Amino acid sequence: MMGGRAEPDPNNDDAKDIEAIQNALNAGIKHIDTAKLYANGKAEELVGQAIKGYKREDLLIATKIHRELNYDDVLRNCEASLKRLGLDYIDLYYVHMPMPSIPIKETARAFNKLMERGLIKNIGISDALNETMDEYQANLDYKIFASQNQYSLIAREPQFNNHLEYCKKNNIHFVAWRPIQLPAPAFNIEPMYKRGAYKLLDDMADKYGVKNAQIAVRWLTQQDNVNVVFKTTNPEHLKEIVDSGNITISPEDMKNLADNFPRQEKISFTSSSRQPML
Ligand SMILES: NC(=O)c1ccc[n+]([C@@H]2O[C@H](COP(=O)([O-])OP(=O)(O)OC[C@H]3O[C@@H](n4cnc5c(N)ncnc54)[C@H](OP(=O)(O)O)[C@@H]3O)[C@@H](O)[C@H]2O)c1
Repeated sequence: MMGGRAEPDPNNDDAKDIEAIQNALNAGIKHIDTAKLYANGKAEELVGQAIKGYKREDLLIATKIHRELNYDDVLRNCEASLKRLGLDYIDLYYVHMPMPSIPIKETARAFNKLMERGLIKNIGISDALNETMDEYQANLDYKIFASQNQYSLIAREPQFNNHLEYCKKNNIHFVAWRPIQLPAPAFNIEPMYKRGAYKLLDDMADKYGVKNAQIAVRWLTQQDNVNVVFKTTNPEHLKEIVDSGNITISPEDMKNLADNFPRQEKISFTSSSRQPML
């Protein structure tokens, strides 16, 4: 999520964002997650500029379509995303959030068409409940590749509603968004990287000799079938997250964090809110 929030930020430091994406690619990260909704297409343009010069087949570029889920709108939006990204195919194209007002059958038909035309290589669904995923799958000619949901030490909805199990059972890659930051501004609590905010996290970071954010991310990536998409423009933070892959949290500590982390919330973006948290 770069270039602004829902609209482009005129004061955004584009060069810094492009550099941050390139730093990630140079550090070996291949999966870039963006969306039309992020700065209304500007984030996709920044990604497009950043990936020029990198080998296409080494990249996994994911983007999303929000709200405009009618057949013609999906085709038109996908082509516009491709143009902004400077690509001739998208590796992973998500429904950003299901819209109850638009029949799933209609959206799925468009995604089938995009697959058939080779404009997208894989289909993802974001912020959907298991039953909604089932309905998409029933109308798709291709297997759903990925599901994206908010999941962190605090935001536990995919665990509480058995979505993690669902993804495992159906061989769908689970992608955790917002792995580090606080769940939403409305939750007036501290982000997980902050020392002093969560004693259990401070204790674990001390025990393993690492940073709080590294434990928060590693607790996710050490789980079966859990991948993360995170955002940082800070090279030190990037290194911390990349290096977190070398931490091995013991099974007892994984369970301790799972069971005893304070403020576990069922934050329902899948069921009650129809507006993704960007
Ligand atoms: N599907 C959806 O509906 C949806 C919704 C929201 C987000 N997403 C995706 O998820 C991605 C990540 O979400 P997010 O940006 O909201 O949350 P996040 O990645 O959990 O947190 C980002 C924040 O954490 C800070 N940070 C990163 N690494 C850190 C470290 N090692 N130590 C301390 N602070 C660190 C960043 O600041 P610095 O830049 O200063 O490091 C930034 O303020 C988005 O970019 C987007 O692709 C998807």
